[in-house]
Amino acid sequence: MKKMLALTLVLLLGMTMVFAGGQQEAPAEEESMVQEMEQEPFFIGLAMPETHVLRWITDGAALKENAEAMGYKAEVAFADGDQTKQNQQISDFITKGIDLLIVASVNTGVNAVLSEAAEEGIEIISYDRLLMDSADFNYYITFNLEKVGELQATSIEDALDLKNATEPKNITLFAGSPTDNNAYFFYDGAMKVLNPYIEKGTLNVVGPYPMTSADKENFNRIATEGWRAEVAKARMENLLSNDARDVVLDAILAPNDPVARACIEACLNDAKYDTVDKLPIVTGQDGEIPSIQYIRDGKQHMTVFKDSRLLAKAAIQLADSIIKGIDPNIPGTVKTMFDTNKKMVDTYLLTPILVTKDNYKEIVIDSGYYKAEEIE
Ligand code: BGC
Repeated sequence: MKKMLALTLVLLLGMTMVFAGGQQEAPAEEESMVQEMEQEPFFIGLAMPETHVLRWITDGAALKENAEAMGYKAEVAFADGDQTKQNQQISDFITKGIDLLIVASVNTGVNAVLSEAAEEGIEIISYDRLLMDSADFNYYITFNLEKVGELQATSIEDALDLKNATEPKNITLFAGSPTDNNAYFFYDGAMKVLNPYIEKGTLNVVGPYPMTSADKENFNRIATEGWRAEVAKARMENLLSNDARDVVLDAILAPNDPVARACIEACLNDAKYDTVDKLPIVTGQDGEIPSIQYIRDGKQHMTVFKDSRLLAKAAIQLADSIIKGIDPNIPGTVKTMFDTNKKMVDTYLLTPILVTKDNYKEIVIDSGYYKAEEIE
């Protein structure tokens, strides 16, 4: 840590002078340096990837709020899904003298600027998305990623009663952005639950079927570049007039809320699914307000709520431990290790929550995450 290192140096210098000169008091200039450093708060840079997925706005605000509540200076920047822009924002943070960087990157194009930050002695926390192929950081904090996919798939399993189904049900598969490591974990978590039904013939996959994300070619065919809703909508429309033309879809595995709504909107424009009761079971993630409204109205079946307030609070607690040089103990998380391909990093996992029509009020309104009037 830059400031900690500087502070140690000043203290050491003071001690050396005491021993060398037998002086009892530090010179005035030195004292004022120490005071200045004591007064100047540690500075945390918060680099968020985009705002077209709404959660990042909440993440950015909650991170800043938690950091400031703990006495840190904090600044947040949103990259609009553009890695070049995010690199510039991180470079600006470095120039402004940040001590610690919390980053959810757009893609691995971030790595060059991460190296620059590390060379400056800036500690880095990988936030929500793992910074792949980098060895320039030691900490990662996120939600249990596989569990997100598992919750999506088990809700399809329950809604279609796959355990007892006698007739095959039709499903089509969507995945998140291939530039985001999370997308692979979400998909694999879901497919652990769905694959046995596909193998038994209880589930029939309409369109490409990567059994796991390791089947890169097929994964890329179902992926949603940049997590862009318009990409998902175009793919859904294409499926409806091609692979899915002669079947009725019972379910759509959609990795997050904007993709879910894009699929639902495409379906509602198709005569086969043009009323709420005819729509397939559609999954989601993030608990975005428009999706909570879709769940209330029976259009979207579920979402996975990842409480940004908790993730942000935990990330700032982690930052605080790193700054203070103490062993992090982050309440509400499970500690594990993740591999960036370059190194294993300490990882803290929070728990995602299933949200349906039955519990959305309790989970996102009673908890104070949204106001009732924002949903109604
Ligand atoms: C996050 C999701 C989000 C997606 C798109 C993922 O990395 O974990 O919560 O929906 O990015 O922004």
